[in-house]
Amino acid sequence: MFINKYRNIEELSQSAAKAFIEIAEQSIAKRGRFLVSLSGGSTPMKLYERLANEKLDWPRVHFFWGDERCVPVDDAGNTYGQTKKILFDKIGQTNIHRIESELEPDSAANAYAHTLKKFADAPFDFPRFDVVLLGMGDDGHTASLFPNSPVDVYSPTLAVTAHYQDRPANRVTLTPVVFNQAREIWFLVTGTGKAETVRSVINGERNVEKYPAQRIQPVNGNLVWMLDEAAAGLL
Ligand code: 6PG
Repeated sequence: MFINKYRNIEELSQSAAKAFIEIAEQSIAKRGRFLVSLSGGSTPMKLYERLANEKLDWPRVHFFWGDERCVPVDDAGNTYGQTKKILFDKIGQTNIHRIESELEPDSAANAYAHTLKKFADAPFDFPRFDVVLLGMGDDGHTASLFPNSPVDVYSPTLAVTAHYQDRPANRVTLTPVVFNQAREIWFLVTGTGKAETVRSVINGERNVEKYPAQRIQPVNGNLVWMLDEAAAGLL
């Protein structure tokens, strides 16, 4: 596990954008494609804005999501819709594999599992993502894996209902079995409000029910915490 601390979200986003492009270029050179799972929430938005100005062989990039809220694409709570405005509308032709949030949650979860199968890396029925971006709530959730969510889930996708701030409650999420096969997993976390949870997740007792972010343990990959000084304040 690596812990990278930055003065602020701008510096964090600049560093994350640089690493994203470097790994994307390496993945494309090695495997002819770059598979990335994006995070929702506000923290990664500055990173997406920076990526919109980067040069990359975008037609070889495949965008997926770690989770999505089950609201229409044009709803402000839809992660794909927000990312389309600040990134996809700017970079031109690429490959978008969004969670069909307009479907019933269970149908959306099944449809997404079907999409993942098309990119499967044997022996799994889902891809090994080159990079997974994740955020973390102040309650220790990540993606849409919330406290007391089902633990031993072997399906790649799950429809969940969870309440966090004023965000849409019905969601579809990838599960740890998928996340943990990734080559790189990056948590982007900022703000003093998360410092205590960051400390508990990283240095506290293991309690995946209480801190679902602790279920993110790459089997054969790198786990990187990208934190601003505020979120890292108690480490
Ligand atoms: C979502 C995300 C969620 C998010 C955290 C942190 O769809 O909301 O997947 O897990 O990353 O809630 O959100 P912020 O970055 O807005 O604090």
